[in-house]
Amino acid sequence: MAEIRYDGRVAIVTGAGGGLGRAYALLLASRGARVVVNDLGGATDGTGSGATMAESVVNEIKQAGGQAVPDYNSVLDGAATVKTAVDAYGQVDILINNAGILRDITFLKQSNQDWDLVLDVHLNGTRNVTKAAWPVMRERKYGRIVNTTSSAGLYGNFGQSNYSAAKMGIAGLTNTLRLEGANYNIKVNTLAPVAGSRLMAQVMPQELLDALRPEFVAPLVAYLCSEECKESGYIYSVGGGYFSRVAYFEGKGVFLGTDQEIRIEDVASRMLDINDLRKGTEMTQAQDQTRKVLNFMGLDR
Ligand code: NAI
Repeated sequence: MAEIRYDGRVAIVTGAGGGLGRAYALLLASRGARVVVNDLGGATDGTGSGATMAESVVNEIKQAGGQAVPDYNSVLDGAATVKTAVDAYGQVDILINNAGILRDITFLKQSNQDWDLVLDVHLNGTRNVTKAAWPVMRERKYGRIVNTTSSAGLYGNFGQSNYSAAKMGIAGLTNTLRLEGANYNIKVNTLAPVAGSRLMAQVMPQELLDALRPEFVAPLVAYLCSEECKESGYIYSVGGGYFSRVAYFEGKGVFLGTDQEIRIEDVASRMLDINDLRKGTEMTQAQDQTRKVLNFMGLDR
């Protein structure tokens, strides 16, 4: 296979001052992309800020012969980050929404600030940078966006209700952007990574942090950012050399009819069948569900 490259392309990587974002920025730059290294440079709980993190990754890229500029804005100021890219390089072709924080705490003890800050950085931050980049990509009829979800959002994780809600919101955002971007060659995919980083240092021993290098995740992200990428609206689980697509399935389902009242007991006695996913089908947009319901009712056309 010919080498996949990004010459002439401009990439924004948010939260690229360390961890996964740094690995994405270095890989894209090593293959010819001009990279905006965004990072607020604060602590893992979303407090503070600083220029050092973004600057050090820009220096790494430049020392390796690549092109990059730093951007110190919070992703909440998404328009400012996109302006950095347009001012420096005149366009935006690739956006990796990766910035993130954690404020883990049980739901009972969670403050409104714990909720708001995590929703802001992950969900609103992803939305705000994308919102500013979208018209630029649409105009040029080219865009590659990779958003970051998490197994905590997809499957749940004790003590992470704020983070789970934000991350599942990002998956939902991607589902619809995929449809709205399709006519403009904007492909939007989502990643659920596993990697050793300072965020994971809170929950993982050092030997696992060392083994799960972010560099194992970066090649899939780089593929999803390439011209060669055909996929859109997909979710990938990736880390430590493992790669898999994640999808939504609905079971075959049970139709109890509509010509007479459905009693609670009618439903309760069929729960085994309702829960059965063995003959499930993949659902790719909202109409799949509506069509299925209407089909059962004999009302589909
Ligand atoms: P990290 O802490 O190394 O990277 C996150 C970066 O985002 C940091 O450099 C931080 O300064 C930056 N950041 C935080 N708030 C920001 C803001 N408002 N504006 C701009 N930058 C900001 O952690 P890691 O693990 O590399 O995380 C990257 C993404 O991957 C996050 O979205 C995280 O939730 C997600 N993720 C990571 C997993 C893992 O196993 N490492 C698992 C699942 C998801």
